[in-house]
Amino acid sequence: HWTAEEKSAITSTWSKVNQEQDGADALTRLFIVYPWTQRYFSSFGNLSSASAISSNANVRGHGKKVLGAVGNAVQNMDNVKGTLAKLSREHAVDLHVDPENFKQRLAQMLVIVLAAKLGGAFTPQVQAAWEKFNNVLVAALSHGYH
Ligand code: HEM
Repeated sequence: HWTAEEKSAITSTWSKVNQEQDGADALTRLFIVYPWTQRYFSSFGNLSSASAISSNANVRGHGKKVLGAVGNAVQNMDNVKGTLAKLSREHAVDLHVDPENFKQRLAQMLVIVLAAKLGGAFTPQVQAAWEKFNNVLVAALSHGYH
């Protein structure tokens, strides 16, 4: 259900992503904009300010893992659900993460980080492809909850 234009918009943006830096930026925004999401990460240490968050080694390591999973989904755009099935069950069963946190939260932060990074290259068409991709990503991550 992807057009050739959507696929190339997603894969060409993704080739510019720095998984550690952009992952840390997206998580930093998540923790600042939606501070209650920090409660899942009590083992991460100091998350008391934007600079503490973005320089926290656990945040950087975790940002890289999260964007690694997104990258996996990008490489498997026609089977995102299957690709993320295990991760979805892990968030539901082991981590008990409220799935509302995927919807319009981490995925939204990722779009903002990409827009800030790409500037004019993040055209409305590229944004539309990412909004669609995020809906597929969120649906896949939410699947293990039912
Ligand atoms: C762990 C991906 C959203 C909470 C993980 C891991 C990945 C991942 C790859 C590591 C799993 C492992 O090491 O086996 C994602 C993706 C997300 C997402 C792709 C959405 C785009 C969220 C959100 C929250 C969350 C929104 C909470 C607000 C956690 C927690 C862990 C985790 C608490 C375990 C962290 C640790 O103690 O190391 N996630 N995640 N995730 N995720 Fe997510």
